[in-house]
Amino acid sequence: REPFSEKLRVPESLTFDDVLLRPMESRVEPDDANVSTRVSKNVQLNIPILSAAMDTVTESGMAIGMAREGGLGVLHRNMDAEMMVHEIERVKRADELVIRREDVVTAKPGQTISDVDEMMERAGVSGAPVVDDDDIVLGIISGTDIRPYLEVGESDEVSEAMTDEVITATRDVSAREALELMYDHKIERVPIVDEDNHLVGLVTMQGILQRREHENAARDEDGRLVCGVAVGPFDRDRAQKADEAGADVIFIDCAHAHNLNVIDTAREIKETVEADVVVGNVGTREAAEELVDFADGIKVGIGPGSICTTRVVSGSGMPQISAVAEVADVASEYDIPVIADGGIRYSGDAIKAIAAGADAVMLGSFFAGTDEAPGRVITMNGKKYKQYRGMGSVGAMRSGGADRYLKDDDEDEEYVPEGVEAATPYKGSLASELHQLVGGMQSGMGYVGAETIPEVKERAKFVRVSSAGQTEGHPHDVMITDEAPNYSPSE
Ligand code: XMP
Repeated sequence: REPFSEKLRVPESLTFDDVLLRPMESRVEPDDANVSTRVSKNVQLNIPILSAAMDTVTESGMAIGMAREGGLGVLHRNMDAEMMVHEIERVKRADELVIRREDVVTAKPGQTISDVDEMMERAGVSGAPVVDDDDIVLGIISGTDIRPYLEVGESDEVSEAMTDEVITATRDVSAREALELMYDHKIERVPIVDEDNHLVGLVTMQGILQRREHENAARDEDGRLVCGVAVGPFDRDRAQKADEAGADVIFIDCAHAHNLNVIDTAREIKETVEADVVVGNVGTREAAEELVDFADGIKVGIGPGSICTTRVVSGSGMPQISAVAEVADVASEYDIPVIADGGIRYSGDAIKAIAAGADAVMLGSFFAGTDEAPGRVITMNGKKYKQYRGMGSVGAMRSGGADRYLKDDDEDEEYVPEGVEAATPYKGSLASELHQLVGGMQSGMGYVGAETIPEVKERAKFVRVSSAGQTEGHPHDVMITDEAPNYSPSE
């Protein structure tokens, strides 16, 4: 047996504050740095950012916001499977070019005009295709058609007021073609029909313009927003449902994915779903080696999170920069993307994680205070906050996610938590937080002379920072008078 004292000849493990990126020769202007990346083998993002699968961070509102900005939201799993399917559908439908038949407000030719007017107002739409009982498109009616009738002939029927020469298109219409039709015919909506003129959907001018506002959005090959979803480490059924609902990336969500039972199930899940499967969390080379034969992405983070107590409770963990580098050593051999999850407080931490070998980063606390996160704003001592809690906290485990920590769900009072429940300052819109985060990462790319994320991984070098160096790196010997949007003295 090796002497016990040998165990104390330990390798050094580093985290964000232990290192800085060494400034290097550069011709890269930060604004020109390209931050697009892959989050998993087949899913491309336009910014290398994910929001955490936590019940105080990512539901459909956050996932829609993240994807519109070019990143990926990962829906949490403290909800039943039916709700999860609903949430995935909300994301996938949010920016769809063609509104599906079941979501299109339609009128019948025999309905009275005042009735349709009320119906459209209730639904918040300004026009509706007119269909017969077989769903065949007969015409289209809009507020402009209705107006002259409202004053004089409220009881007239829709068939009198509707436009019956309808411009339609088929399901494969592109946004550009639909827009051309609208300009050519001075119309604002085009019903989508099948070969027998049955209504199958609707394209609206408003929908097209809304999509244009989000030019940087991360979309699937059909133009829908990308959506990630977390499933329990043994939840084959749920993974199946998430896949059928259209999730692009399924995250096997476990605090210790080097558990061999978790890996066996994850491998089985990968065989049955079309979506990419990301497995995590791990923090070592040995764990990564178990995953490379099937995972489409590997997520790294054992205990770095702001609300985590894993390291103090279990005595186990890996400082995050070293963990990312170890895993990336293995994953890069197999061209598998790596996601650095947890512990990121500043944009500088995020770009350090990329330099250590990650392709993307996942954040919880950074986004929990935004409008897009679930939960309401609370005021304490005149300051605004939102709730943020660890998925291993007692409250979150009670809501259903104990298996993330490989614990039984029915222990109730007996939980041994690995996270805390907290409040985080209210931050306003997600878009402005992301602007600061991505802008800071681009600054880092300028300092290391890297034009792309793969170049950061390739080129960037670290220097070691002493505690004096760390103090020097923060504002010091001054009293901050105006808070910066990307630095809070209390942090
Ligand atoms: P940040 O630092 O961005 O971290 O707030 C978010 C990540 O932390 C992980 N997480 C936990 N880890 N106990 C833990 O040990 C917990 O209760 C807990 N909840 C979340 C998770 O990986 C998340 O993405």
